[in-house]
Amino acid sequence: MARPSTVHVCSVCGHAEARWHGQCPGCGEWNTLVEERAPARAASGANPNGAARRAAGAPTPVALRDVQAVTHSRLSTGIGELDRVLGGGLVPGSLVLLGGSPGIGKSTLTGMAMGNLAGADRKTLYVSGEESAAQIRLRAERLEHGACHALDVPVLAETDLDAVLAAIDAHRPEVCVIDSVQTLHAPDLTGAPGSVGQVREVAARLMRTAKSVGTTVVLVGHVTKDGAIAGPRVLEHLVDCVLQFEGERERTYRTLRALKNRFGSTSETGVFEMKQGGLVEVLDPSARFVGEATGKPGSVVLAAMEGSRPLLVEVQALVSPSEIVPPRRVVTGIDRNRLALVLAVLGRHANVGTGTADVFVNVVGGVRVDEPGADLAVALAVASAQRGVALGTEDRPLACFGELGLTGELRTVGHPERRVEEAEKFGLRDPVHPGTSRTLRHALRAAFAAAEPVAA
Ligand code: TYD
Ligand code: MG
Repeated sequence: MARPSTVHVCSVCGHAEARWHGQCPGCGEWNTLVEERAPARAASGANPNGAARRAAGAPTPVALRDVQAVTHSRLSTGIGELDRVLGGGLVPGSLVLLGGSPGIGKSTLTGMAMGNLAGADRKTLYVSGEESAAQIRLRAERLEHGACHALDVPVLAETDLDAVLAAIDAHRPEVCVIDSVQTLHAPDLTGAPGSVGQVREVAARLMRTAKSVGTTVVLVGHVTKDGAIAGPRVLEHLVDCVLQFEGERERTYRTLRALKNRFGSTSETGVFEMKQGGLVEVLDPSARFVGEATGKPGSVVLAAMEGSRPLLVEVQALVSPSEIVPPRRVVTGIDRNRLALVLAVLGRHANVGTGTADVFVNVVGGVRVDEPGADLAVALAVASAQRGVALGTEDRPLACFGELGLTGELRTVGHPERRVEEAEKFGLRDPVHPGTSRTLRHALRAAFAAAEPVAA
């Protein structure tokens, strides 16, 4: 049988070449050619103008109000936080992509979910192209201590896409995990496993088979720190749901969030802790993070919103004289540009200059806060660190939230009442926020007013 022919298509300009080139002859971009299967030629005699289609009658559009609404029944993974981020569980027949850097715990999370599903008498299949069946068994044994039925999950250690598709077709699992999408390869494409062309083809064919047999497929994908090399990003448009598992490998906290969800919200976050028997849900992360807050100079508590629930996290700053020019600006857990903005506003509108000092800002616990409400917490933490004055005590750290405007004003952010409520629930110092202070200057005065006697 002749090999189906493939073409190399530029992902920037769409130019097609029979062979791979490092530089696209069409637009001159480098490394943009991706191998794809050549489009099947229409049978001779087919009318290119679609006369046959017209003869068969045009399809009739349906008014939206007449469309039958479907409520999806969900499969619970037995992991509350995962179900919540998914929007209530796995939707049968859907395609989910779970991305994260290596070692973060993707195999652990999927292994546990599959164990729970198997325990609930669901048909499962775990396909691993990364580890041998024996290695997977070792992990499952660790997970069994965490009380799930991980050893009951049928596994297939395989990297050949055709074999995997055949297995899905034959066994018809309700849920199938592919760990990872980068290790499978379609034999009819020449690209190496994990290349953009391969990853796209693998995902597209898995999707077709999965939809035809009604299997829910969870694709595990590695993302590198700087985004993705041939990574899950190229699949985002194809799948129903993209979950991102983040955190730092050395730390125990992990957060799971949805970047895209056709069946639910994208603002939910689940917090986990990696322990000996697998991942443990952190049901009350606020209590955890506030309990660990130091209340020392440079520490404040941010009342953040993670989707529908408030979350208290500690933000720490350190300001120290620098020997290098330009001085360091190091952040973890917030956007680096946001720090630059906060420092500029602090200097210009509140006389808190950090010009020649190194500034480090850290959201404790490896959590990421991607919301403008974090501005005020960063500003107060930096001001507190710079003056060496504690804004609260270990028992009653200062809570705050609010966005900084370029003219030094505080801007409101979503759900102020819920944030204040959460801070009060944990007995924090009266929170400083846009509802109590209109400008950064006011906020600093309010924060330091109560603080100075404590520090003295
Ligand atoms: P893993 O799920 O293999 O990560 P990924 O699939 O994302 O690459 O697990 C990552 C780490 O978690 C690994 O270094 C070992 C650790 N781990 C635990 O601490 N406890 C456990 O019960 C398990 C299964 C793993
Ligand atoms: Mg893994």
